[in-house]
Amino acid sequence: MKQDLIIAIDGHSSTGKSSLSKLIAKQLGYTHIDSGAMYRAVTLFAYQNDLIEGNKVLVEQLVPRLEEIFIDFRYNTANNLNETYLNGVNVEDEIRGLQVSSMVSPIAVIPEVRDYCVALQQKMGENKRIVMDGRDIGTTVFPNADIKIFITASAEIRAKRRFLEFEREGKTISFDEVLKNVIERDHIDSTREYSPLRKAEDAIEVDNSNLNLEQTVEAVMKIISSKK
Ligand code: DC
Repeated sequence: MKQDLIIAIDGHSSTGKSSLSKLIAKQLGYTHIDSGAMYRAVTLFAYQNDLIEGNKVLVEQLVPRLEEIFIDFRYNTANNLNETYLNGVNVEDEIRGLQVSSMVSPIAVIPEVRDYCVALQQKMGENKRIVMDGRDIGTTVFPNADIKIFITASAEIRAKRRFLEFEREGKTISFDEVLKNVIERDHIDSTREYSPLRKAEDAIEVDNSNLNLEQTVEAVMKIISSKK
């Protein structure tokens, strides 16, 4: 296989993009970058600095403070994860919590936040050998990526995955509510004005409605191996 590739993995929410990207990177000996973690870290910074009031982001106050934010990823050999650091502090757990999850969408639509995150992502790709997952990696971050994959699955299947996840975490929420939320998120992600979620023209689509994680990894590895 051709060495030193940039592999962009985009797609809808709850398609297992991050788990997939992690495994692909591991198989190739590449670095995995979860671009969504950066939008989450910016959201955490906004909370820490009282730049979110209720469910309102104080955009005008946040934008000039973006220069105070430094995000990097450090590999933890204990769990084999590339963990997110915000200004030198490990925030991997905190950025996955409900508080950050509920406000990351409005933060991710702010053009200045996107420019900030995209510049950082492009810098992380300078040495190639990376698998980056997100929503706009193949379209905006690395339009010249060597391999572009677009992962999708039906809304019902993705809602079922989320629903089972909530159940495992002991959270009570109806399936209809989860489905509604999945459809709403698709709508917000794909209709936002700045850098919306869309499949790059040269991306290869993988529908994993009927595939488990292992089968999805296999399908994607096949695509990567064919690009010799
Ligand atoms: O993949 P995730 O759920 O961790 O993403 C968190 C949020 O960031 C979600 O609202 C989509 C957004 N996001 C984005 O707009 N662009 C990316 N490249 C990655 C994530």
